[in-house]
Amino acid sequence: MCGIVGYFGKRNASDILVDGLRRMEYRGYDSAGVACLYDGEIGVVKNPGKIKGLREKVDASGSGVLQNSIQGIGHTRWATHGPPTEVNAHPHLDVSGHFVMVHNGIIENYKQIRNGLSQHGIECVSDTDSEVLVQLIAYCYKGNLESAVSEALKKVKGTYGIVVMTDKEPGKLVTARCGSPIVLGLGKGETLVASDAAAIMPHTRDAVYLEDFDMAVITDDGVQMFDLQHSPVDREVTEMDWEEGAAEKGDYEHFMLKEMFEQPAAIRNAIRGRLDYEMGTSVLSGLDFSPRDAALISRILVVGCGTSMHAGMVGEYAIEEMAGVPAEVEQAAEFRYRNPIITPTDFVVAISQSGETADTLAAVREAKHKGAVVAGICNVVGSTIARETGRGVYLHAGPEIGVASTKAFTCQVSVMLMIALKVARTRRLPLHEGAEFCRWIERLPELVEKVLEQNDAIKSIAQKYASCDNAFFIGRGYLYPVALEGALKLKEISYVHAEGYHAAELKHGPIALLQEDTPVIALLNNIPGKEKTIGNAEECKARKAPVIAVVTEGDEEAAEGFDDVIVIPECPPSITPVPTVVALQLLSYHIAAARGCEIDQPRNLAKSVTVE
Ligand code: AGP
Repeated sequence: MCGIVGYFGKRNASDILVDGLRRMEYRGYDSAGVACLYDGEIGVVKNPGKIKGLREKVDASGSGVLQNSIQGIGHTRWATHGPPTEVNAHPHLDVSGHFVMVHNGIIENYKQIRNGLSQHGIECVSDTDSEVLVQLIAYCYKGNLESAVSEALKKVKGTYGIVVMTDKEPGKLVTARCGSPIVLGLGKGETLVASDAAAIMPHTRDAVYLEDFDMAVITDDGVQMFDLQHSPVDREVTEMDWEEGAAEKGDYEHFMLKEMFEQPAAIRNAIRGRLDYEMGTSVLSGLDFSPRDAALISRILVVGCGTSMHAGMVGEYAIEEMAGVPAEVEQAAEFRYRNPIITPTDFVVAISQSGETADTLAAVREAKHKGAVVAGICNVVGSTIARETGRGVYLHAGPEIGVASTKAFTCQVSVMLMIALKVARTRRLPLHEGAEFCRWIERLPELVEKVLEQNDAIKSIAQKYASCDNAFFIGRGYLYPVALEGALKLKEISYVHAEGYHAAELKHGPIALLQEDTPVIALLNNIPGKEKTIGNAEECKARKAPVIAVVTEGDEEAAEGFDDVIVIPECPPSITPVPTVVALQLLSYHIAAARGCEIDQPRNLAKSVTVE
C-alpha cells in the first residue's frame, strides 16, 4: 500500500526520493509526491498516477528547491479517504505552508481532530485523514519539531508511520511509527527513512527498525531515538541481507516472471541447513521449540490472508496427516473478530510474506493476548509480525516485488512442510519415514525446475484461453488449496473472473455457470481421490467446458479425453502442491501477458495490505 521515503544527507534529495518511490511501486499506489526543503523554502510536487509522471513534473519544475535540496520526503498513496487527486496526494502542507508531512496508516479520529482544528480557524483542504496530522503538528509547534510531533501523536487514534519537516528547523527530519512500519537506513554521511527496505537498499545495508511509539530525529549529527515521552530508546542496527540486484527485474519482462523462475533457488534458501537426516526431522531454531515443547502442542492454528492462507491450508493437511495433531487454518480477520477459543497448548502460526498485513498482525496480537504460543513465517526480515511474534521461520526467498505472490507461496509451503515434519517426529512418524520426507523436501527445487522447463508449452495453452471471461480451478485433498491459489493468481493479474472449488463442490451450484468458453483447470495429479476428480472433470466436459488437465508424469492417461494437458513430476501428495502451483502461476502469467495486463502492479491491488 502507501510508501514513505525520506532523505537527509549530501546528495540531491529529489533524485533519491523519486528513485525510492519507484522501488516501492510494487506495493500498489495511485498517486505520488515529493517535498524538498532548501534555503528556507519548501517545494512540493505531486502527481495523480504513475511515478514516471512525477519524475517528469520534478524535472520540469525548474524549482531551485527541488534541484538543490539535500533534504526531503516522498510518498506513494493508495487511496482510502478521498479519490487519487493531486490535492489528496502526499506530502501534505499545513495551512501556514511551514510544515510538510507524509503519512502511512489511518487516523481513525480524524473527523474529531478536523472539527477541533476548524474551531481554531484551521481548515483542511483535502479529503484525507492524513492531512489533519500535519495541521495538528503545526498547531502544537512551540519551537521544537519533535515536541510538536509527540504532542500531536498523543491526540491521535489509529495507525501511523510519518516523516515531517519544517522550514523553521532546516536540517531536521522527524519520523514516528505506530502500526505502520518505518525503517531507517544509516549511510555514510546520510540517513534515509522509509516504510520499506526496498527504498533504502541501494544506499546502505545498515538498518534500524522503529518499534511502535518510537520517534527518530534525523539531523547532521545522526539519528536520535525517543519514545513519545521523550525518553531515549535504543534500537539495534541490523544488516539487510538481500543480494545486490535482488530487487531489480534484470532481463525479465516482469518481476512476476523473474520471481517464478527464482523459485528453485528461493526454496533452496528456505530449506538450507534446516533438514536433519540423521534424526529424520527439521531444524527450525527460530521456532525456539524443544522436542518436548513440540510434543506438548495440542492444536496448531494457522492464520493468514490470500496466498499466505492458501499455503497455510497445505500445512494444515500435512500437519494432520503426518503428525496427527489437529490443525485449522483461518482467515486472519475472521480469527481476530470472532473471539476464538485458544488454550495454552495451542500453537498459532501466522503466515505473511510482508510481515505487515494488518489483519494477520491483529490476529497475532489476539492470539498472544489469549496466551497462545505464536510464531511467524515471514519473508521480510525485521517486519512487524516477525518482531512481534519473536519466534518463527524466515523464508529467505529474497524480495518479492510482483504483487502476485509466487516464490513466497512455494517457500511458505516448504516451511510448513518442515514444521509438520518437526511436530510429526515428536509423535508417530518413524525416523526412516522422516528421513524419506527430508529427501522429498530437498527435491522440491528440482521438481519446480521440471515444471519451469514447460514454460513454452504452458504459454501455448494460455494463449488458447486468453480471451475467456471466466475460469474454474478444481482440486481435492492437497490440491484443493492449490485450486484456490490458481484461481487467485489468474483473477488478480489477468482480471479474468476465476473461482477455485473443491472438485466435489462444483456440482452443488457452480457447474450451472459452465459453458463452451469457460475453461476448467482440473488438478488430476495422482493423489488419493484422483478418480473422483477425473469424474468431476468429465462432468465439466459433458457441459461443453474445455478442460485443462494437470496430471502426474507417467499417469498421462488421466488426461485422456480432455483438451489440454500439463504434466507434473511424480512426488508424494504432500509435496505435489509446490510443483503444481508453479504450472498454474505460469498459466496465469501467460494469460495476463496475452491480455496485455499490467502484471506486476494489477489495478486496485497493493502488495502489502496494511489496513483492515
Ligand atoms: C497474492 O498474490 C496476494 N498478493 C495476496 O493475496 C497476499 O498473499 C495477501 O495480501 C497476504 O499478504 P502477506 O503474505 O504479505 O501477508
